[in-house]
Amino acid sequence: MEHPEDQKQYWDKKATNTTFSTPLDLDIFKAHVSQQATILDIGCGYGRIMDQLCQQGFTGITGVDFSWEMVNLGKSSFPGLNFAQAGPALPFRDQSFDAVVLMAVLTCIPDDTHQQRLMDEISRVLRKNGILYITDFMINTDQRNRERYNRCDRGPYGVFELEDGAVLRHHSRDHMVQLTNAFGEILFKETVFATMHRNRSNGFYYIGKKQGI
Ligand SMILES: C[S@@+](CC[C@H](N)C(=O)[O-])C[C@H]1O[C@@H](n2cnc3c(N)ncnc32)[C@H](O)[C@@H]1O
Repeated sequence: MEHPEDQKQYWDKKATNTTFSTPLDLDIFKAHVSQQATILDIGCGYGRIMDQLCQQGFTGITGVDFSWEMVNLGKSSFPGLNFAQAGPALPFRDQSFDAVVLMAVLTCIPDDTHQQRLMDEISRVLRKNGILYITDFMINTDQRNRERYNRCDRGPYGVFELEDGAVLRHHSRDHMVQLTNAFGEILFKETVFATMHRNRSNGFYYIGKKQGI
């Protein structure tokens, strides 16, 4: 299930019966992104976070997801919001957004190469000094997680397989430092939150700024 086409099919199926729960830290987000900013929510699912931001007065939000079913569910749930089917390549001009939101998307991309491709696309569509906000999962040390990381031979430590066929990834701090090295890190805050299967997991909030001339 490493290939993006297989993953699309998995998330298409999930669109009928999943409620996402990974939290957006609004205080952190609002401290770095203005309500007038153009914001791209990549892997937006059915638009949960877009709706939350809209209710907080953010006006320039676009959401993309590579799953048609997620996008269709989003369009019917939140008809006033702006959805498009896209990914991994993004159909937007260079430097066309002030901020990018990436909520529980890296966890769906088990291998380094595809994660790096996504980060390269984010760098391309963000304007200089644009903000990247990430919430995602970190490696856990409890027995259940250690056993499933060790059982899985589909990628680096932290990758694991669910019974329904999904291959997911929890990340080390070192990996996140490397993956975001094109950005200037403003904040990395570790936390614990609920997963979509109602377990607890280590996680993090990240804010970075696009560097360069
Ligand atoms: C765990 S869900 C989170 C959805 C949403 N961000 C939220 O927090 O409510 C991950 C979503 O990312 C999408 N996705 C995964 N990889 C993607 C990619 N490379 N490009 C676009 N969407 C992607 C999946 O289809 C799925 O809807």
